[in-house]
Amino acid sequence: MLKAYSRAWCEIDYDAIAHNVDEVRKLVGNTKIIGIVKANAYGLGAVECSRALQKAGIRFFGVSSVDEAVELRENGIEDDILILGYTPPEHFGKLVRYGLIQSLVSNAYAHKLEEYAAAGNATIRAHAKLDTGMNRTGIIYQPDHKHFDELKDVYHLDHIRVEGIFSHFPVSDDLNEDAVAFTKRQIELFDEAIERLKAENIDPGARHIQNSYGILNYMDLGYDYCRPGLLYMGVTSDDEVEIQSAPDFIPILSIYANVSVVKWLKPGETVSYGRHFKAEKPTKVATVSIGYADGLPRILSNQGLKVRVNGVLCELIGNICMDQCMVDVTDVENVQEGDVVCFIGEGLTVDRITRAAHTINNETLTSIAARMPRLEKRNK
Ligand SMILES: Cc1ncc(COP(=O)(O)O)c(C=O)c1O
Repeated sequence: MLKAYSRAWCEIDYDAIAHNVDEVRKLVGNTKIIGIVKANAYGLGAVECSRALQKAGIRFFGVSSVDEAVELRENGIEDDILILGYTPPEHFGKLVRYGLIQSLVSNAYAHKLEEYAAAGNATIRAHAKLDTGMNRTGIIYQPDHKHFDELKDVYHLDHIRVEGIFSHFPVSDDLNEDAVAFTKRQIELFDEAIERLKAENIDPGARHIQNSYGILNYMDLGYDYCRPGLLYMGVTSDDEVEIQSAPDFIPILSIYANVSVVKWLKPGETVSYGRHFKAEKPTKVATVSIGYADGLPRILSNQGLKVRVNGVLCELIGNICMDQCMVDVTDVENVQEGDVVCFIGEGLTVDRITRAAHTINNETLTSIAARMPRLEKRNK
């Protein structure tokens, strides 16, 4: 039986990342991988995930901010690091100092970077972000726009070295006709912009567009790189969404917590804030030391979510508290203080929690609190 490590904790199977990367490679062939490790690798440990990705042969990482990039550098990650988001001008110096690659989030932004780099006679590495329909960041590209000139222009800045070009899919997860047409149009626009650059003797640099669902549903695009985040963690955003491929991923996350107290309720007694659970019969209840401040969403309260106590599936009852929750363990013999309760792992998917919380796995993972220890999976 698994021994407790803390009051509540994550265990992460970093070794399984190599398997998941192989599954991605089976889909994308020669397209190389930029390992997306932003937001602390979706909560699972940016440095540890990056090291595991390195072991799997990945030499390029994507983060959302300059601070996330610096964290990787300070922990010995010397490979290419692309900052997918905006870096404010006060931090431009770090781009130079740490040799980071900045996304050009607009033409005006590229000029701001150029001005900074020119003043210090430095060169800033960059990838041109092309907005083909997400309308979030990027140099807008539509054929009927003047925007090709804006794209071309950033390749001519003296102190910005544009090493790549990329775009992003908002509906690559959706296989309905409209969504597929939208995604295919994005691909056409991306290709067209690249061809127009080449026609003007401009090397567009490394091309990439596929996020996880872009890989699962549009695996044959053949660009230089793809940008999976969730996939190497062995999950998709939503396991009920139909996909065009059948990869065999291993989910890398487990979550456990300790039983702190076991007690019997008499019929009519209630549990937790709001008294939403009322015992109909004598009921044995275990209090477990994990709550919404650990990342167990409060909205899961009273939804009949199952967890595993000493191997037996048991129901969460009553409102989830900040640091604790309660489980009906009437059918489990010998439950006692210190026993380990499994919330994710042992066949319990993160998707169940996500579904009950009406969100996507990306949010469930990134909501795991900082105070939860993340340790390498034991008992593999
Ligand atoms: C620009 C960009 N590329 C790639 C990713 C990775 O997405 P996913 O986790 O779906 O693979 C993200 C994540 O949101 C992103 O913003």
